[in-house]
Amino acid sequence: MSFDRKIKIAPSILSADFANFGAECEAIEAQGCDWVHVDVMDGHFVPNITFGPATCAAIRPHIKGVMDVHLMIAPVDPYIEAFAHAGADILTAHLEAGPHVHRTLQAIRGAGAKAGLALNPGTPAEAAAELLDMVDLVCVMTVNPGFGGQKFLDMTAKIRRLRAMIGDRPVHIEIDGGVDPGTAPLVARAGADVLVAGSAVFKSGSVASPEVYGRNIRAIREAAEGVYA
Ligand code: DX5
Ligand code: ZN
Repeated sequence: MSFDRKIKIAPSILSADFANFGAECEAIEAQGCDWVHVDVMDGHFVPNITFGPATCAAIRPHIKGVMDVHLMIAPVDPYIEAFAHAGADILTAHLEAGPHVHRTLQAIRGAGAKAGLALNPGTPAEAAAELLDMVDLVCVMTVNPGFGGQKFLDMTAKIRRLRAMIGDRPVHIEIDGGVDPGTAPLVARAGADVLVAGSAVFKSGSVASPEVYGRNIRAIREAAEGVYA
């Protein structure tokens, strides 16, 4: 995985057909997405349950590019090896998931994955200050985690502060929640480069009509890239 700050669209398969993940991942990649975002929820850290490492391992062969795994679980540490073994390129843990996030980030890199740090809407950018040399990505949540299809929360001031704090470190800023062609320019202008989108990519499409996914991905990308024009 090489580093750049070009806009990357990462569809969240939380909005895909759960009975057909393999074909869904192949469809969104064929339609031009950059990364595949995989939301793991435990019914404890967040009020919803999705799936675990076995499902990630089953999906992996259907993804050619980057598998971006967002862990909304607590505790995190006992499961890091399993998710790394399942083939995650990036493992993102929440700062709020436990008292020892520093140890968690060390363990993620130790397991051979890139380390991501997610911040809930109520957590300030400054909470990440001592961790920026040990992460490859900071994920700014623009919804409270747990569900797809929620309303975008404006975190642009926080994204700008984080972008300044990161400076020239090779650290991605990822935005997760409520991203669509209307909100993408706001976060891109503030300094984000990875845009997660669930409902805005999968809406109205299916593996039988994947060109809809392509249109949705392009609409978000063009809206985000338009801010540099
Ligand atoms: C929220 C998840 C997101 C979510 C995004 O807890 O982490 O990845 O699926 O979905 P949309 O784009 O529909 O807000
Ligand atoms: Zn997510």
